[in-house]
Amino acid sequence: MTSTKAPSSTSCLLLAPVAVLLLVFLVASLNRSGAGSDGLGVLCARRAGADHYAVAAPEKEAAPAEPELSLLVGILTMPKLRERRDIVRLAYALQPPVPSYARVDVRFVFCNVTDPVDAALVALEIMAHGDILVLDCAENMNDGKTYAYFSSVPRLFAGAPYDYVMKTDDDTYLRVPALVEELRGKPREDVYLGYGFNMSGDPMLFMHGMGYVMSWDLVSWVASAEEILARNDTVGPEDLMLGKWVNLAGKGKNRYDLKPRMYDLNWNMDNLRPDTVVVHMLKDNRRWATTLRYFNVTAGIEPSNKLYRLP
Ligand SMILES: *[C@@H]1O[C@H](CO)[C@@H](O)[C@H](O)[C@H]1NC(C)=O
Ligand SMILES: *[C@@H]1O[C@H](CO)[C@@H](O)[C@H](O)[C@H]1NC(C)=O
Ligand SMILES: *[C@@H]1O[C@H](CO)[C@@H](O)[C@H](O)[C@H]1NC(C)=O
Ligand SMILES: *[C@@H]1O[C@H](CO)[C@@H](O)[C@H](O)[C@H]1NC(C)=O
Repeated sequence: MTSTKAPSSTSCLLLAPVAVLLLVFLVASLNRSGAGSDGLGVLCARRAGADHYAVAAPEKEAAPAEPELSLLVGILTMPKLRERRDIVRLAYALQPPVPSYARVDVRFVFCNVTDPVDAALVALEIMAHGDILVLDCAENMNDGKTYAYFSSVPRLFAGAPYDYVMKTDDDTYLRVPALVEELRGKPREDVYLGYGFNMSGDPMLFMHGMGYVMSWDLVSWVASAEEILARNDTVGPEDLMLGKWVNLAGKGKNRYDLKPRMYDLNWNMDNLRPDTVVVHMLKDNRRWATTLRYFNVTAGIEPSNKLYRLP
Protein backbone atom coordinates (compact mmCIF):
# COMPACT_ATOMS: atom_id res chain seq x y z
CA MET A 1 0.00 0.00 0.00
CA THR A 2 2.91 2.31 -0.58
CA SER A 3 2.57 4.83 -3.35
CA THR A 4 3.05 3.34 -6.81
CA LYS A 5 3.61 6.69 -8.41
CA ALA A 6 7.26 7.34 -9.23
CA PRO A 7 8.13 10.31 -7.07
CA SER A 8 10.27 12.99 -8.65
CA SER A 9 12.87 13.67 -6.00
CA THR A 10 15.02 11.65 -3.69
CA SER A 11 13.41 13.07 -0.60
CA CYS A 12 10.03 11.92 -1.88
CA LEU A 13 11.35 8.41 -2.50
CA LEU A 14 12.22 8.11 1.12
CA LEU A 15 8.57 8.32 2.03
CA ALA A 16 7.80 4.91 0.58
CA PRO A 17 8.76 2.66 3.51
CA VAL A 18 7.11 4.83 6.06
CA ALA A 19 3.83 3.69 4.61
CA VAL A 20 0.35 5.03 4.80
CA LEU A 21 0.30 6.43 8.30
CA LEU A 22 3.03 8.92 7.60
CA LEU A 23 1.70 9.71 4.14
CA VAL A 24 -1.66 10.48 5.61
CA PHE A 25 0.01 12.59 8.26
CA LEU A 26 2.08 14.49 5.71
CA VAL A 27 -0.86 15.07 3.45
CA ALA A 28 -2.88 16.24 6.40
CA SER A 29 -0.14 18.56 7.60
CA LEU A 30 0.30 20.00 4.11
CA ASN A 31 -3.38 20.66 3.86
CA ARG A 32 -3.41 22.14 7.32
CA SER A 33 -0.40 24.37 7.13
CA GLY A 34 -0.17 25.21 3.43
CA ALA A 35 3.38 26.47 3.00
CA GLY A 36 4.17 25.76 6.64
CA SER A 37 7.28 24.11 7.99
CA ASP A 38 6.51 20.44 8.35
CA GLY A 39 9.90 19.18 7.22
CA LEU A 40 10.06 16.64 4.45
CA GLY A 41 6.48 17.06 3.32
CA VAL A 42 7.04 20.67 2.43
CA LEU A 43 10.46 20.03 0.94
CA CYS A 44 8.97 17.29 -1.13
CA ALA A 45 5.99 19.28 -2.34
CA ARG A 46 8.20 22.20 -3.34
CA ARG A 47 10.58 20.16 -5.38
CA ALA A 48 8.01 17.98 -7.01
CA GLY A 49 5.51 20.77 -7.57
CA ALA A 50 2.51 21.35 -5.37
CA ASP A 51 0.16 19.39 -7.60
CA HIS A 52 2.05 16.20 -6.77
CA TYR A 53 0.20 16.11 -3.48
CA ALA A 54 -2.90 17.88 -4.72
CA VAL A 55 -3.40 14.97 -7.11
CA ALA A 56 -2.32 12.24 -4.72
CA ALA A 57 -4.30 13.33 -1.70
CA PRO A 58 -7.87 12.63 -2.88
CA GLU A 59 -6.81 9.18 -4.14
CA LYS A 60 -5.47 8.33 -0.72
CA GLU A 61 -8.55 9.56 1.05
CA ALA A 62 -10.93 7.85 -1.36
CA ALA A 63 -9.43 4.38 -0.86
CA PRO A 64 -8.91 3.73 2.86
CA ALA A 65 -9.74 0.04 2.35
CA GLU A 66 -8.91 -2.11 5.37
CA PRO A 67 -5.91 -4.26 4.42
CA GLU A 68 -6.09 -8.04 4.74
CA LEU A 69 -3.00 -8.04 6.85
CA SER A 70 -0.72 -5.58 8.58
CA LEU A 71 2.89 -6.03 9.53
CA LEU A 72 5.27 -4.01 11.66
CA VAL A 73 8.91 -4.54 10.73
CA GLY A 74 11.35 -3.51 13.47
CA ILE A 75 14.98 -3.28 12.38
CA LEU A 76 17.07 -3.45 15.53
CA THR A 77 20.06 -1.19 15.05
CA MET A 78 22.06 1.46 16.86
CA PRO A 79 22.04 5.26 16.60
CA LYS A 80 25.67 5.41 15.43
CA LEU A 81 25.11 3.20 12.39
CA ARG A 82 23.90 6.09 10.32
CA GLU A 83 25.41 5.12 6.98
CA ARG A 84 24.08 1.57 7.17
CA ARG A 85 20.65 2.87 8.05
CA ASP A 86 20.64 5.11 4.98
CA ILE A 87 21.38 2.13 2.76
CA VAL A 88 18.74 -0.02 4.44
CA ARG A 89 16.18 2.79 4.23
CA LEU A 90 16.79 3.18 0.50
CA ALA A 91 16.72 -0.58 0.01
CA TYR A 92 13.20 -0.65 1.50
CA ALA A 93 12.07 2.50 -0.32
CA LEU A 94 13.10 1.18 -3.73
CA GLN A 95 11.41 -2.19 -3.47
CA PRO A 96 8.45 -3.03 -5.66
CA PRO A 97 5.27 -1.69 -4.03
CA VAL A 98 3.72 -3.65 -1.20
CA PRO A 99 0.61 -5.43 -2.55
CA SER A 100 -2.56 -3.49 -1.83
CA TYR A 101 -3.90 -6.23 0.46
CA ALA A 102 -1.15 -5.51 2.99
CA ARG A 103 -0.01 -2.60 5.11
CA VAL A 104 3.63 -2.66 6.16
CA ASP A 105 5.37 -0.17 8.43
CA VAL A 106 9.14 -0.27 8.77
CA ARG A 107 10.83 1.19 11.85
CA PHE A 108 14.42 1.43 13.02
CA VAL A 109 14.55 0.44 16.66
CA PHE A 110 17.04 1.81 19.21
CA CYS A 111 17.42 1.70 22.91
CA ASN A 112 17.91 5.05 24.65
CA VAL A 113 19.92 7.55 22.65
CA THR A 114 22.44 8.88 25.15
CA ASP A 115 25.09 10.61 23.04
CA PRO A 116 24.16 14.25 22.28
CA VAL A 117 25.63 14.10 18.77
CA ASP A 118 23.64 10.96 17.99
CA ALA A 119 20.58 12.63 19.44
CA ALA A 120 20.91 15.65 17.14
CA LEU A 121 21.34 13.49 14.05
CA VAL A 122 18.63 11.03 15.01
CA ALA A 123 16.30 14.00 15.47
CA LEU A 124 16.95 14.90 11.82
CA GLU A 125 15.98 11.41 10.76
CA ILE A 126 12.84 11.51 12.83
CA MET A 127 11.81 14.80 11.26
CA ALA A 128 12.65 13.72 7.74
CA HIS A 129 11.51 10.10 7.80
CA GLY A 130 9.47 9.47 10.93
CA ASP A 131 10.65 5.87 11.01
CA ILE A 132 12.52 5.69 14.32
CA LEU A 133 11.41 3.98 17.49
CA VAL A 134 13.36 4.57 20.72
CA LEU A 135 12.73 2.03 23.48
CA ASP A 136 13.34 2.42 27.16
CA CYS A 137 16.42 0.22 27.45
CA ALA A 138 20.19 0.52 27.42
CA GLU A 139 21.88 -0.23 24.07
CA ASN A 140 23.43 -3.70 24.07
CA MET A 141 23.78 -6.75 21.92
CA ASN A 142 22.27 -9.73 23.67
CA ASP A 143 21.05 -8.03 26.75
CA GLY A 144 17.34 -7.81 26.44
CA LYS A 145 16.78 -5.45 23.52
CA THR A 146 14.62 -7.97 21.70
CA TYR A 147 12.57 -8.45 24.85
CA ALA A 148 12.30 -4.65 25.20
CA TYR A 149 11.07 -4.46 21.61
CA PHE A 150 8.42 -7.17 21.76
CA SER A 151 7.24 -6.21 25.22
CA SER A 152 6.85 -2.53 24.24
CA VAL A 153 5.11 -2.94 20.90
CA PRO A 154 1.66 -3.97 22.26
CA ARG A 155 1.56 -0.85 24.42
CA LEU A 156 3.03 1.50 21.79
CA PHE A 157 0.57 0.39 19.12
CA ALA A 158 -2.37 -0.54 21.32
CA GLY A 159 -4.58 1.85 19.38
CA ALA A 160 -3.83 0.22 16.03
CA PRO A 161 -2.52 -3.30 16.50
CA TYR A 162 -0.77 -5.11 13.69
CA ASP A 163 -1.53 -8.67 12.67
CA TYR A 164 2.16 -9.50 12.71
CA VAL A 165 5.31 -8.07 14.25
CA MET A 166 8.72 -8.78 12.82
CA LYS A 167 12.17 -8.38 14.28
CA THR A 168 15.05 -8.10 11.89
CA ASP A 169 18.55 -6.64 11.71
CA ASP A 170 20.43 -3.96 9.79
CA ASP A 171 22.45 -6.59 7.91
CA THR A 172 19.33 -8.20 6.50
CA TYR A 173 17.67 -7.47 3.17
CA LEU A 174 13.99 -8.28 3.47
CA ARG A 175 11.92 -8.50 0.31
CA VAL A 176 8.66 -7.21 1.65
CA PRO A 177 6.28 -8.32 -1.13
CA ALA A 178 7.64 -11.89 -0.91
CA LEU A 179 7.10 -11.96 2.84
CA VAL A 180 3.55 -10.60 2.79
CA GLU A 181 2.68 -13.11 0.10
CA GLU A 182 3.87 -15.85 2.47
CA LEU A 183 1.84 -14.38 5.32
CA ARG A 184 -1.33 -13.81 3.34
CA GLY A 185 -2.65 -17.34 3.55
CA LYS A 186 -1.35 -18.05 7.05
CA PRO A 187 -3.35 -17.89 10.27
CA ARG A 188 -3.31 -14.58 12.08
CA GLU A 189 -2.80 -16.20 15.48
CA ASP A 190 -0.12 -18.21 17.23
CA VAL A 191 2.28 -17.72 14.33
CA TYR A 192 6.06 -17.93 14.65
CA LEU A 193 7.76 -17.78 11.27
CA GLY A 194 11.32 -17.45 10.07
CA TYR A 195 14.46 -19.42 9.36
CA GLY A 196 13.97 -22.51 11.47
CA PHE A 197 16.92 -23.72 13.47
CA ASN A 198 17.08 -27.23 14.85
CA MET A 199 18.73 -26.98 18.23
CA SER A 200 20.26 -30.32 19.24
CA GLY A 201 17.41 -32.37 17.85
CA ASP A 202 14.69 -30.41 19.61
CA PRO A 203 11.43 -31.13 17.79
CA MET A 204 10.50 -27.44 18.09
CA LEU A 205 12.49 -25.22 15.75
CA PHE A 206 13.52 -21.78 16.89
CA MET A 207 13.76 -18.94 14.43
CA HIS A 208 17.12 -17.44 13.55
CA GLY A 209 17.71 -13.78 14.47
CA MET A 210 18.16 -12.69 10.83
CA GLY A 211 14.42 -12.05 10.86
CA TYR A 212 11.31 -13.62 12.31
CA VAL A 213 7.64 -12.85 12.55
CA MET A 214 5.23 -13.34 15.43
CA SER A 215 1.50 -12.80 15.37
CA TRP A 216 0.08 -10.01 17.55
CA ASP A 217 -1.35 -12.42 20.14
CA LEU A 218 2.10 -13.95 20.70
CA VAL A 219 3.71 -10.54 21.06
CA SER A 220 1.01 -9.53 23.54
CA TRP A 221 1.68 -12.69 25.47
CA VAL A 222 5.43 -11.88 25.61
CA ALA A 223 4.59 -8.45 27.03
CA SER A 224 2.52 -9.98 29.80
CA ALA A 225 4.49 -13.15 30.59
CA GLU A 226 6.01 -12.64 34.02
CA GLU A 227 7.66 -16.04 33.80
CA ILE A 228 10.13 -14.69 31.20
CA LEU A 229 11.37 -12.06 33.64
CA ALA A 230 11.28 -14.42 36.60
CA ARG A 231 13.60 -16.84 34.79
CA ASN A 232 15.94 -13.97 33.71
CA ASP A 233 15.28 -15.20 30.19
CA THR A 234 15.68 -11.78 28.63
CA VAL A 235 19.44 -12.05 28.59
CA GLY A 236 21.32 -14.27 26.15
CA PRO A 237 21.28 -14.95 22.40
CA GLU A 238 18.02 -13.24 21.53
CA ASP A 239 16.75 -15.69 18.94
CA LEU A 240 17.44 -18.74 21.09
CA MET A 241 15.86 -17.08 24.11
CA LEU A 242 12.75 -16.16 22.19
CA GLY A 243 12.45 -19.76 21.01
CA LYS A 244 12.74 -20.84 24.63
CA TRP A 245 9.96 -18.50 25.83
CA VAL A 246 7.64 -19.72 23.14
CA ASN A 247 8.51 -23.40 23.52
CA LEU A 248 8.23 -23.51 27.31
CA ALA A 249 4.80 -21.92 27.07
CA GLY A 250 3.68 -24.30 24.33
CA LYS A 251 3.05 -21.37 22.02
CA GLY A 252 3.75 -20.70 18.37
CA LYS A 253 1.93 -23.81 17.17
CA ASN A 254 1.67 -22.29 13.70
CA ARG A 255 5.35 -22.45 13.03
CA TYR A 256 6.75 -21.92 9.56
CA ASP A 257 10.27 -22.46 8.36
CA LEU A 258 11.05 -20.38 5.27
CA LYS A 259 14.33 -22.13 4.49
CA PRO A 260 15.72 -22.06 1.82
CA ARG A 261 14.13 -18.73 0.93
CA MET A 262 15.79 -17.20 3.99
CA TYR A 263 19.54 -17.64 4.21
CA ASP A 264 22.96 -16.17 4.92
CA LEU A 265 24.82 -14.69 1.98
CA ASN A 266 27.95 -16.81 1.68
CA TRP A 267 31.55 -15.65 1.50
CA ASN A 268 31.64 -15.69 -2.32
CA MET A 269 28.26 -13.99 -2.55
CA ASP A 270 27.09 -16.54 -5.12
CA ASN A 271 24.09 -18.07 -3.39
CA LEU A 272 21.52 -15.32 -4.03
CA ARG A 273 18.25 -16.71 -5.40
CA PRO A 274 15.34 -15.07 -7.20
CA ASP A 275 12.70 -16.31 -4.73
CA THR A 276 14.50 -14.78 -1.72
CA VAL A 277 12.42 -13.61 1.22
CA VAL A 278 15.36 -12.67 3.44
CA VAL A 279 19.11 -12.58 2.82
CA HIS A 280 21.33 -11.97 5.80
CA MET A 281 24.99 -11.19 6.55
CA LEU A 282 25.10 -7.99 4.51
CA LYS A 283 27.79 -6.64 6.74
CA ASP A 284 29.50 -4.22 4.39
CA ASN A 285 28.72 -2.00 1.42
CA ARG A 286 30.16 -4.49 -1.04
CA ARG A 287 27.68 -7.13 0.08
CA TRP A 288 24.80 -4.66 -0.07
CA ALA A 289 25.87 -3.54 -3.55
CA THR A 290 26.02 -7.13 -4.83
CA THR A 291 22.61 -7.92 -3.38
CA LEU A 292 20.88 -4.77 -4.65
CA ARG A 293 22.40 -5.32 -8.08
CA TYR A 294 21.28 -8.95 -8.15
CA PHE A 295 17.69 -7.93 -7.45
CA ASN A 296 17.81 -5.28 -10.19
CA VAL A 297 16.96 -2.56 -7.71
CA THR A 298 18.60 0.15 -9.83
CA ALA A 299 17.86 -1.37 -13.23
CA GLY A 300 15.26 1.32 -13.94
CA ILE A 301 17.67 4.22 -13.48
CA GLU A 302 17.22 7.03 -16.02
CA PRO A 303 20.36 7.02 -18.23
CA SER A 304 22.27 10.27 -18.39
CA ASN A 305 25.70 10.86 -19.88
CA LYS A 306 25.61 14.45 -18.83
CA LEU A 307 24.72 14.35 -15.15
CA TYR A 308 26.18 11.05 -14.05
CA ARG A 309 28.05 8.16 -15.51
CA LEU A 310 28.04 4.92 -13.54
CA PRO A 311 30.03 1.81 -14.41
C1 LIG B 1 15.94 5.74 29.04
O1 LIG B 1 15.62 7.12 29.02
C2 LIG B 1 14.51 7.47 29.82
C3 LIG B 1 14.20 8.93 29.58
O2 LIG B 1 15.36 9.69 29.59
C4 LIG B 1 14.84 7.18 31.28
O3 LIG B 1 13.72 7.48 32.10
C5 LIG B 1 15.18 5.69 31.41
O4 LIG B 1 15.58 5.40 32.74
C6 LIG B 1 16.26 5.26 30.44
N1 LIG B 1 16.36 3.83 30.50
C7 LIG B 1 17.50 3.16 30.57
C8 LIG B 1 17.40 1.68 30.65
O5 LIG B 1 18.57 3.71 30.55
C1 LIG C 1 15.65 -31.86 14.49
O1 LIG C 1 16.65 -32.83 14.30
C2 LIG C 1 16.34 -34.12 14.80
C3 LIG C 1 17.52 -35.04 14.59
O2 LIG C 1 18.71 -34.33 14.55
C4 LIG C 1 15.12 -34.67 14.12
O3 LIG C 1 14.77 -35.90 14.69
C5 LIG C 1 13.95 -33.70 14.30
O4 LIG C 1 12.83 -34.15 13.57
C6 LIG C 1 14.35 -32.30 13.82
N1 LIG C 1 13.27 -31.40 14.11
C7 LIG C 1 12.62 -30.70 13.16
C8 LIG C 1 11.45 -29.90 13.60
O5 LIG C 1 12.98 -30.70 12.01
C1 LIG D 1 17.92 -13.20 38.08
O1 LIG D 1 18.89 -12.18 38.16
C2 LIG D 1 18.88 -11.50 39.42
C3 LIG D 1 19.82 -10.34 39.36
O2 LIG D 1 21.00 -10.67 38.66
C4 LIG D 1 19.23 -12.51 40.53
O3 LIG D 1 19.21 -11.88 41.77
C5 LIG D 1 18.23 -13.66 40.51
O4 LIG D 1 18.61 -14.65 41.43
C6 LIG D 1 18.16 -14.27 39.11
N1 LIG D 1 17.07 -15.25 39.09
C7 LIG D 1 17.17 -16.45 38.54
C8 LIG D 1 15.95 -17.28 38.56
O5 LIG D 1 18.21 -16.83 38.03
C1 LIG E 1 17.28 -9.03 -13.22
O1 LIG E 1 17.17 -8.64 -14.57
C2 LIG E 1 17.73 -9.60 -15.50
C3 LIG E 1 17.70 -9.00 -16.88
O2 LIG E 1 16.44 -8.50 -17.19
C4 LIG E 1 16.90 -10.88 -15.39
O3 LIG E 1 17.44 -11.86 -16.26
C5 LIG E 1 16.97 -11.39 -13.96
O4 LIG E 1 16.16 -12.53 -13.82
C6 LIG E 1 16.53 -10.32 -12.98
N1 LIG E 1 16.81 -10.80 -11.64
C7 LIG E 1 15.88 -10.95 -10.69
C8 LIG E 1 16.34 -11.48 -9.39
O5 LIG E 1 14.71 -10.67 -10.86
